[in-house]
Amino acid sequence: MATPDTLRYTRIPLADGSGAIPALGFGTLIPDPLATKQATKTALEVGFRHFDCAERYRNEQAVGDAMQEVIKAGTIQRKDIFVTTKLWNNNHRPDRVKPAFEASRQSLQLDYVDCYLIHTPFAFQPGDEQDPRDERGQVIYDTGVTLVETWQAMERLVDEGRCKSIGLSDISLDKVQEIFKAARIKPAVVQVESHPYLPEWELLDFCRQRGIVLLAFAPLAHGMEPKLVDNLVITTIAQRVHKTPAQVVLAWAIQRGTALLTTSTTPRYIQENFEVSTLPEDAMQEIRDGITTRVRFNPVVETGVPGFIPQSR
Ligand SMILES: NC(=O)c1ccc[n+]([C@@H]2O[C@H](COP(=O)([O-])OP(=O)(O)OC[C@H]3O[C@@H](n4cnc5c(N)ncnc54)[C@H](OP(=O)(O)O)[C@@H]3O)[C@@H](O)[C@H]2O)c1
Repeated sequence: MATPDTLRYTRIPLADGSGAIPALGFGTLIPDPLATKQATKTALEVGFRHFDCAERYRNEQAVGDAMQEVIKAGTIQRKDIFVTTKLWNNNHRPDRVKPAFEASRQSLQLDYVDCYLIHTPFAFQPGDEQDPRDERGQVIYDTGVTLVETWQAMERLVDEGRCKSIGLSDISLDKVQEIFKAARIKPAVVQVESHPYLPEWELLDFCRQRGIVLLAFAPLAHGMEPKLVDNLVITTIAQRVHKTPAQVVLAWAIQRGTALLTTSTTPRYIQENFEVSTLPEDAMQEIRDGITTRVRFNPVVETGVPGFIPQSR
């Protein structure tokens, strides 16, 4: 009898010793709270055990409700779920970090959070407005705080025990290096856009060498044009290995050593995205060598302004 493929259950140990992150993650950037709750529940039911959230998504309560329902029903235990959430740009001042974290933790209805990320390295004007703009519509940045100061406040959250690990997001390699050097508690996770059109090999190499998990968002290129699931290299491999194009792309991400976050509100896709299995080595190489198109879909890494979140939210 053939051994069952276990790629979907891959867990990557965190170098800080706080545990391991399931490679296959479900992202909760879903504008509608009811759809968020439903999709999160479906993701839990089909087997996802890693959830990515953010105060900026304004739906942590809905994610928390879904998790509480399955935990209370006794089908899944809290300890088996890995939950990440993120500090938004208007909360970079050190005195704002803990209140922002606590608000997220309480909305998620959790005793502790597995990982807390600085959502972007860009500090916006401190205050309750998530998208502060001047009269010309330009973002108001905050020059009164450095990323290292915000990082130190994140480290204190780990000391206090409500957050097991910390990391960075939407960040360039040089900034990761800067924080890595200055940090007392090293970043455990770095979350960036990554897929075959934006493989980020250099960042992945740095992360591997330092024991940092590279967590790829938009692994399916956010479903945008040029559609990765229609790419000829991907569709040819999919036919050969009897998997869907999405499953090929997600397997590639796990096998090259990243964790990933995929999102869908379509139950059939959520199930499909969990049912990944190992690609043969030649397919891995064909994706690496055969896809030369390069596209960044989300400009957040350049400005701190999210490309995938409606600005009015
Ligand atoms: N750090 C950051 O700044 C940042 C930025 C963006 C995202 N993220 C995180 O990353 C997560 C994932 O991002 P993403 O939405 O770009 O992920 P993605 O998985 O690359 O793209 C999602 C899109 O692909 C479609 N899709 C999903 N499964 C599919 C399948 N099997 N076949 C065909 N199409 C499929 C979805 O359609 P349907 O919805 O119609 O089903 C949706 O339109 C977010 O939820 C969030 O947690 C982080």
